[in-house]
Amino acid sequence: MKALVIAVDGYASCGKSTLARDLAQTLDYRYIDSGAMYRAVTYRMLQLGLPLTESPELDQLLQTLDLKFIKSEGVNQLIINGMLLGTELRTKAVNAAVSPVSTLPSVRRAMVVLQRSYADGTGLTMDGRDIGTYVFPQADLKIFVTARPEIRAIRRQAELIALGDSTWTLDEILQNQAQRDRIDSNRDFAPLKRAEDAVDLDNSDLSREEQLAWALKWVEERGGV
Ligand code: DC
Repeated sequence: MKALVIAVDGYASCGKSTLARDLAQTLDYRYIDSGAMYRAVTYRMLQLGLPLTESPELDQLLQTLDLKFIKSEGVNQLIINGMLLGTELRTKAVNAAVSPVSTLPSVRRAMVVLQRSYADGTGLTMDGRDIGTYVFPQADLKIFVTARPEIRAIRRQAELIALGDSTWTLDEILQNQAQRDRIDSNRDFAPLKRAEDAVDLDNSDLSREEQLAWALKWVEERGGV
């Protein structure tokens, strides 16, 4: 039995974070939401009024970026330069800008260095777009998650409402989703794609418990604790 590195990748709003978080909790592993890291950089860029392109100001921001995850009341919270970020990461402005920002090589390079530093041998689940293909190509278990677009949009809407934002129509969500998927899959640097050695999970018709049970079988199969 060993502590695994588990990569959970897939399109927007497929339930990757829920699965990665549930796995980490069950296995007592560390959980990292890599999307939140891209969102945090995006949030800072918007806050500072930076263009969503490479720039000397962006380099400066990345050099002085202090990004930490802390566990508070059982949830992972992201702290950027001393600022605790939660709902700020899920606004319409951040949602619209995050995919373009995450195509920027300087941003990706900085995030990947941090992401790799979280693998300290004690067990890690990380969800994102390029975790199994680029960040951890040697991950012990790679799960590629998909779900039908309408199901993803309904889940996203419920999540936004739970965060206090009921301004999104399903159509808007579907459009934002499709646009993000397109940008994420077509960028030059580490695009979203299924790793050849990934196992596929279509969770359209699965409950949270069912998808966790499915994933735990794979953890066992890979000799994980
Ligand atoms: O998982 P999410 O929706 O919070 O991710 C937000 C954006 O961040 C997503 O549109 C693409 C980008 N992202 C990425 O490029 N690579 C990752 N490993 C994770 C997220």
